[in-house]
Amino acid sequence: MFIVLLGPPGAGKGTQAQRIADATKLLHISTGDMFRENVKAGTELGKLANEYMAKGELVPDEVTIGMLLERISRPDAAKGAMFDGFPRNVAQAFALDQALAGKGARIDHALLISVADDELIARLGGRWICRNCGRLYHERNDPPKREGICDACGGELYQREDDRPAVVSARLEKQKPPGALIEHYRQAGVLKEIDGQQPLDAVTRALLEAIT
Ligand code: AP5
Repeated sequence: MFIVLLGPPGAGKGTQAQRIADATKLLHISTGDMFRENVKAGTELGKLANEYMAKGELVPDEVTIGMLLERISRPDAAKGAMFDGFPRNVAQAFALDQALAGKGARIDHALLISVADDELIARLGGRWICRNCGRLYHERNDPPKREGICDACGGELYQREDDRPAVVSARLEKQKPPGALIEHYRQAGVLKEIDGQQPLDAVTRALLEAIT
């Protein structure tokens, strides 16, 4: 099964992808995480990507699509994957469709998580992430048991550079899923819209129902 999770920055794509991956054992592929790993490792790709991420802009398609296609060519993605943060536009969607067609597969579900802007701003401002395992927290909605420490692995929690208010406004302005992308999946008959304003567990239930 191949799934795409669509939604604006802070909608809960990463949080829900971790939960769905735990429940279904589906491979979770996040282009944002891949870029952040490259930034941390100081690779050329990371340096290039960071120029765009720091301004709240999308990384150019030629870089992003190449990275994603290389990732799905690996054996662990042969039978299925859940894409979080990809595609962001129709060109990326076509590239993904074409790559999957080459494997005799297609996107089975496109799940659009919708959340109002004021809630997105509150979520991004209060997000904390484990430096070690990547588990996501929110200081109000989903706090760790001990402040600054990951419940899952004891790692240190940090806040993303691009969650600073100035970058968040740019991300919300430039990175909401475009209408043409939503229409692409509606036309393919695989689009389902999920109310992302609900509590975390309710969103997880709705997403799992949508794919079963
Ligand atoms: P990426 O990491 O994909 O960022 P994003 O799309 O902006 O999404 P976020 O990770 O910020 O939010 P999310 O929807 O995953 O929410 P989360 O679950 O964390 O991309 C980063 C950058 O990389 C981009 O800006 C771009 O530059 C580049 N990039 C990545 N992919 C690209 C592509 N395909 N093309 C070009 N460039 C690309 O939740 C947020 C917070 O809310 C958490 O604290 C969580 O605990 C809380 N929360 C979640 N759900 C709920 C709920 N239901 N109730 C209460 N709190 C909740």
